Amino acid sequence: MYIFLNDKVVAEPEAVVSVYDHGFLYGDGIYETMRSYSGAVFMFERHRERLCRSASFIQLGLPEEGYIRNAVYDTLDANGLSDAYIRITVSRGKGPIGLDPGLCREPTFVVIAEQFREYPEQHYRQGVKLIIARTRRNLREALDPRIKSLNFLNNILARIEAKERGAYEAIMLNAEGFISEGTVSNIFFVRDNVLCTPSPDVGILDGITRELIIGLAKRNGIKVNEGKFYPDNLFRSSEVFFTNTTAEVMPASQVEDMDFDVGGITGTLRRLYREEVAEFTRKSERRR
Ligand code: PDD
Repeated sequence: MYIFLNDKVVAEPEAVVSVYDHGFLYGDGIYETMRSYSGAVFMFERHRERLCRSASFIQLGLPEEGYIRNAVYDTLDANGLSDAYIRITVSRGKGPIGLDPGLCREPTFVVIAEQFREYPEQHYRQGVKLIIARTRRNLREALDPRIKSLNFLNNILARIEAKERGAYEAIMLNAEGFISEGTVSNIFFVRDNVLCTPSPDVGILDGITRELIIGLAKRNGIKVNEGKFYPDNLFRSSEVFFTNTTAEVMPASQVEDMDFDVGGITGTLRRLYREEVAEFTRKSERRR
């Protein structure tokens, strides 16, 4: 396996970062997860923009657009991958101990690409179990969830709860008790044929898959309500699903002790998302 590390592709055993890297010492850094289909990175530009947004929130310098694109495609090529999981990680870099970002001269820039491992088809057919975590989502005023940061302990604590209770994903509430998001996903539910999802001002990472699903729903005559919802609103719904770049649209069969069927709107949105990916793949083939 080959990794892109600071300007070049190296074999995985040589892709080593200092113990003085502030990403390691303090979680000072950001990342993005992307997916390629048939050799083309889906929604690359949106992911790059979000990486830039995260960088600017933490005053971290990033390489220019062409550098990032080449780094990603060079990593795919070096590993001979076409359907891949891709992760860009940028940390503050190596520096003496101390919180001051000015102690680090150069950010550490890494791209990892691995063969994409499909999720079990059964998850999509039957749905997966979700819980509502006791761990609350970080306050926007403390660590804004819009920053896709290396500081992931908030989500990890909720993920531990999910694991302890035999669930696949945990829904996190914000400090006021409104549904925010999953540990690595955005949450949707359907009530009276209206697609409901927490609005960004609840304090979420505004997912790229989420944005696409909202657009697809609206263009296909499905009403969308982005708002503030309590768990009770979700419990009174007919369908629940979550979205992210790797799982795409994954239905829930259970939330706490409430059962849900994999419903028609979830199925339609999953199909529309797949069609969007297929169209993207066709266009990228024509361009090559
Ligand atoms: N996670 N919310 C959180 C907290 C996330 O970590 C993610 C993505 C999302 C969905 O975003 P998108 O649709 O842009 O993937 C929402 C990725 C998959 C990860 O952590 O690897």
